[in-house]
Amino acid sequence: MSELSVNHLLGIKYLNKKDIHLIFETADHFKEVINRPIKKVPSLRDITIANLFFENSTRTKLSFELAEKRLSADVINFSASQSSVKKGETLIDTVNNILSMKVDMVVMRHPNPGAGVFLSQHIDASIINAGDGAHEHPTQALLDSYSIRERLGDVKGKNVVIVGDILHSRVALSNIYALQLQGANVMVCGPKTLLPKYIKDLGVKVETNLRKALNWCDVANMLRVQNERMDISYFPTTREYTQQYGVNKALLNSLNKEIIIMHPGPINRGVEITSDVADSDQAIILDQVQNGVAIRMAVIYLLASKIKH
Ligand code: CP
Repeated sequence: MSELSVNHLLGIKYLNKKDIHLIFETADHFKEVINRPIKKVPSLRDITIANLFFENSTRTKLSFELAEKRLSADVINFSASQSSVKKGETLIDTVNNILSMKVDMVVMRHPNPGAGVFLSQHIDASIINAGDGAHEHPTQALLDSYSIRERLGDVKGKNVVIVGDILHSRVALSNIYALQLQGANVMVCGPKTLLPKYIKDLGVKVETNLRKALNWCDVANMLRVQNERMDISYFPTTREYTQQYGVNKALLNSLNKEIIIMHPGPINRGVEITSDVADSDQAIILDQVQNGVAIRMAVIYLLASKIKH
């Protein structure tokens, strides 16, 4: 039987092409399951999973919880704002206390880059990174590629541009790794101030003109400007950002082809994307969210199958 090359999902950086293929094949099966009248399988009745969220989330948190419940795992949820972290407890102590309650797997979102890797070196449980600061968001990148594959048949050879705040985006880095592993051509586009200096070293094309980027691509993944990670202004005004890097229907209609629009959410309507695009057939934003459950079921199932009881 095929298995993942890793015991944790800390980042796409640690996966290989075969891992991604296996996750997608497994997600295909679970996608079929969640479209049945009874959307549940008994596969993980012997597994307990803790969802540890040290940072806000809507999609990822609910999607993981639903994926775990669809697999019949026992689930506990932890939110840092209502926990003893506020009384000064360390991350390792917090997680070890949770694990002592016979928890097998940890799903963690944390504001600090590398928090998952750090934890994996100090605890004895399988860890899934649900987003660590501006570092990686591996399940988001997997569901993004899976959604491209679903719409276009394959990721290989496709031109994908990631637009916006690349500097503060964990979605961008994980997508770059995932898309390149699958043979896509990747471009980043945004204001120079939001393009990190190291980005060219990752082998991506760099473009500051949105129209040129959109004319090149098959898929545009629009990112939110992450104001919560900024302590200075990276562009003069939001209005000027939108004029240069926002997509609207008139701009898309003026291109030489129809492209697919993606967004990891949450959307800032009228800033990086207008409603006439977000709600159009060109956008696969809600397909991404729907596919997230099947992808997370696949990741949890494959990692759980490596846990020795
Ligand atoms: N895409 C994403 O990570 O959304 P949330 O922050 O709502 O989980």
